[in-house]
Amino acid sequence: MHTERIIRPAKNVYGSLRLPGDKSISHRYGMLGAFAEGTSRFSNFSTGADCASTLRCMEALGAKVRRLEDGSVEVTGVGGRVTPPQTQSAAPLDCGNSGSTMRMIAGLLAPQEGRFTLVGDESLSRRPMERIRKPLEMMGARLTLTEGHAPLKIEGGALKAIDYTTPVSSAQVKTCILLAGLQTPGVTTVREAVRTRDHSELALRAFGAKVERTVDSISISGPQKLHAIEAAVPGDLSSAAFFLCAAALFPGSNLVLDALGMNPTRAALLDVLTALGARVAVLNLEEKNAELVGTVQVTAPAEGMGTAEISGALAAQLIDELPVLAAIGPFTSGGIRIRDAKELRVKESDRIALVVKNLRAMGAEVAEFEDGLDVPGGQKLHGATIDSGGDHRIAMAFSVAALRAEGETVIQGAESASISFPEFFNLLDLVAER
Ligand code: S3P
Repeated sequence: MHTERIIRPAKNVYGSLRLPGDKSISHRYGMLGAFAEGTSRFSNFSTGADCASTLRCMEALGAKVRRLEDGSVEVTGVGGRVTPPQTQSAAPLDCGNSGSTMRMIAGLLAPQEGRFTLVGDESLSRRPMERIRKPLEMMGARLTLTEGHAPLKIEGGALKAIDYTTPVSSAQVKTCILLAGLQTPGVTTVREAVRTRDHSELALRAFGAKVERTVDSISISGPQKLHAIEAAVPGDLSSAAFFLCAAALFPGSNLVLDALGMNPTRAALLDVLTALGARVAVLNLEEKNAELVGTVQVTAPAEGMGTAEISGALAAQLIDELPVLAAIGPFTSGGIRIRDAKELRVKESDRIALVVKNLRAMGAEVAEFEDGLDVPGGQKLHGATIDSGGDHRIAMAFSVAALRAEGETVIQGAESASISFPEFFNLLDLVAER
């Protein structure tokens, strides 16, 4: 069901929050726990619909999933061998809206005996899947796509190790290959031009696998077994991004986020906010299952935000945060310039097109490029009707911009926030002072 949300302007952003578990880490813990031997337990597991899709797929493959009263998730794994759907007419594995689920499970299933079909919703069925077919086929897997898209059919079987340089900087592609390599004799190596988020490498190690890293490569030798773990999932920094950017909009703001994931491959946003002039303090830094966790405090610059240019490797590392950074661009003094972010066009929506469309709807001037956009600073926005395109990050990014607009903003397709962050609107109401 499509729902609308009205966002009224705020006077300030103030308060202290603890956010639900990181989506990327929850996918990986859920998937690896379901594949491992034994029963794993994860507290603060992501509450988003995407990670629920991963758990449902893994249940269909034989894992047992239990949600405990304290909100944690208990996963009993299949011990390295999944149960393929028994009949030709068995329901396909439904990945919902989640690209991570489809691309990563494909790597897990390619070396398994059996036939598997992965499907997704309308948005996921438009997203590029050739990027995983190519390396998996080099390993000897048999995959069928329709014009490069889902449904994705896998005829699983023994594979051979490869040494692969990824043409797109994608942690999902890297993970797909590593999960296949985990089960394949020999050493499988993935080389990437930009170091993408490394949660898979860290999680594989936490589950007992040996993974070797160099500056630009990750190698796994197979086959290896995984063992159950107990872990607390750090708060999601990409969800926190909406609140951190909201706080950066209001001189006098003060926002504290506890137990937030601080993995360096994810934390580039903090550098950008600092460059924009915000005061960002990281306290109580700890390491849990090789993931860094800390408390972050942000206060906005009294003189307003400066300017930022995001391109090259930084664009790849900030890919999930770019919509909200662009959405606050009009409120900076020097604007926000984004390049080398063509990947934004093949996310849950064409995020460049939707950011441009919605900024213009709010009265902003903005220039669109194939691989990015220029948002000049020093602009005022007015409330408008926002087309989220059913994309969670667009719905949330424009809810943040709406806090500083004149008049009310209507977010269409607001329910999409629950793909990654069902609590978003309630928490925004808590910290936005009106
Ligand atoms: C993710 C990787 C990124 C990111 C997505 C989650 C992951 O996608 O945009 O939200 O968990 O590995 P790509 O791998 O396509 O860059």
